[in-house]
Amino acid sequence: MELLKQKIRDEGIVLNEQVLKVDTFLNHQIDAELMLAIGQVFSRLFAENGVTKVLTIESSGIAPGVMTAMQMGVPLLFARKRKSLTLQEGLYTEKIYSFTKREESEVSVSKKFLAPDDRILIIDDFLANGEAALGMARIVQQAGAQVSGIGIVIEKSFQPGRQKLLELGYRVESLARVATLANNQVTFVEDNVD
Ligand code: G4P
Repeated sequence: MELLKQKIRDEGIVLNEQVLKVDTFLNHQIDAELMLAIGQVFSRLFAENGVTKVLTIESSGIAPGVMTAMQMGVPLLFARKRKSLTLQEGLYTEKIYSFTKREESEVSVSKKFLAPDDRILIIDDFLANGEAALGMARIVQQAGAQVSGIGIVIEKSFQPGRQKLLELGYRVESLARVATLANNQVTFVEDNVD
């Protein structure tokens, strides 16, 4: 997605060879117009998949997720990282290990929002090692529902997430694929999804 890649070139900060900071438009401050454009592209890409619900993880997946859900005319459901006061029982729960943060977190979704006839589109802001997407896919499986596809805003293609998801048979669509962050610079994989 050229618009997104240009935004990354203009505003992304390469923190080191592993981490790209994009807090001017995705991870802290949010560019709502760009999120809408992202939602339109995901909605088009997965239009034929009979998606009934979009699933993401708080917090940074919510902005692209909600725009995608709005374009598709379906609800957005987000997995919660903290136990909520009002959400205690009847949960699907999975552990997700973050190699980037070196910590394990437990994410939960209420059972009442996932049904066996749901077709779920998983959306997330970053794909690195794939653990967040895999955790969400396991939650969908717990519910007996189907994963229709996985949509990623920024994929770090030099990390193994995409390969792991493809090996499990999931369709993965990433709007910006970063080939490397070497030399303090973002280089994209030469393919374009728009
Ligand atoms: P994985 O799910 O693909 O295995 O990724 P990983 O554990 O490495 O990522 C853990 C967290 O770090 C996620 O956010 C993910 O979005 C974020 N992350 C991973 N790589 C980058 C990067 O290069 N740049 C930025 N900005 N973030 C990255 P999170 O902990 O769920 O936080 P949030 O959603 O509340 O922002």
